[in-house]
Amino acid sequence: MQQKKKTLGEFIIENQSEFKFSSGELSKLINAIRLAAKVVNHEVNKAGLIDILGAAGDTNIQGENQQKLDVLANERFIQTLKNREIVCGIASEEEDDFIAINSLDNQHQNKYVVLIDPLDGSSNIDVNVSVGTIFSIYRRVTPIGSPVTLEDFLQPGINQVAAGYIVYGTSTMLVYTTGHGVNGFTLNPAIGTFYLSNPDMQFPESGNIYSVNEGNYIHFPQGVKDYIKYCQMEEGDRPYTSRYIGSLVSDFHRNMIKGGIYMYPKSSVNSEGKLRLLYECNPMAFLAEQANGKASDGFGRIMEIQPTELHQRVPFFCGSRLMVEKAEEFMAAGQ
Ligand code: AHG
Ligand code: MN
Ligand code: MN
Ligand code: MN
Repeated sequence: MQQKKKTLGEFIIENQSEFKFSSGELSKLINAIRLAAKVVNHEVNKAGLIDILGAAGDTNIQGENQQKLDVLANERFIQTLKNREIVCGIASEEEDDFIAINSLDNQHQNKYVVLIDPLDGSSNIDVNVSVGTIFSIYRRVTPIGSPVTLEDFLQPGINQVAAGYIVYGTSTMLVYTTGHGVNGFTLNPAIGTFYLSNPDMQFPESGNIYSVNEGNYIHFPQGVKDYIKYCQMEEGDRPYTSRYIGSLVSDFHRNMIKGGIYMYPKSSVNSEGKLRLLYECNPMAFLAEQANGKASDGFGRIMEIQPTELHQRVPFFCGSRLMVEKAEEFMAAGQ
């Protein structure tokens, strides 16, 4: 007999007891993200049909052209979280500053802050390639009852209480962790329900995929150049396969399932790398570690970095544990 598939809603309720000081708030928050994900999924899916493709004409704080769907996804996520009054603050790749959310009674009783990359891989929108959303959730560190401050957002990744991503791909999936492993849910678009499709996701200990923008090779540090050459060498299970989509979410998702390493190193033109510590690297690092993988800046653990600014960038090496450790060896030797 075929077993009934568990829905994300059922899964959230069943696992609520995992949260140490559970008041149901974190469950409600993940529910709100599930709702926003469905709305953005709908927008992404019809992107080719209506005039929301292409650049919005503004530049965000990162100096990137904002694509129209970047702006739309940002608005949808922020609005959904605001409407439900379940967080006290939001920071987004697309916003210059964090947004403090005052509850209607002005009592500031909500405990959580959310950090989001509303649309990841947005340069892929125009060519119908998978994009994603990344989210990261922390408990505020300043006292409940007062408005949030920057300090609530500048926490090291080890403080995350939940993190995840949505990949708007051949099917749409929501993958998240609350620190008890990683679970993946696939959207059935016919009825708008996410079903548990990938329970307890794990990176293979090693793999044969390396994902890096090799066009930047000439600008990479010596350690990265040497590691790339190692990946290409004929020996044992090498040469590895090169796969790079240009959407962190999609590259990570594939590597978690198949085994691989994703790298966005610093370079002579990007002195800190490109990816953002708070919106991209920390949530992916939390997921990676919960899935038996590893995330490093080339020398140390991503989640232990103390952030100093909201839009901070860091070099990023993430994926199958043994592969990330090998890349770290090359980085240390290339010094
Ligand atoms: P975003 O679209 O949120 O700005 O992020 C883009 C990031 C990441 O998703 C991707 O892996 C990387 O930028 C691609 O950068 P390059 O085009 O420089 O390889
Ligand atoms: Mn961007
Ligand atoms: Mn991104
Ligand atoms: Mn983005």
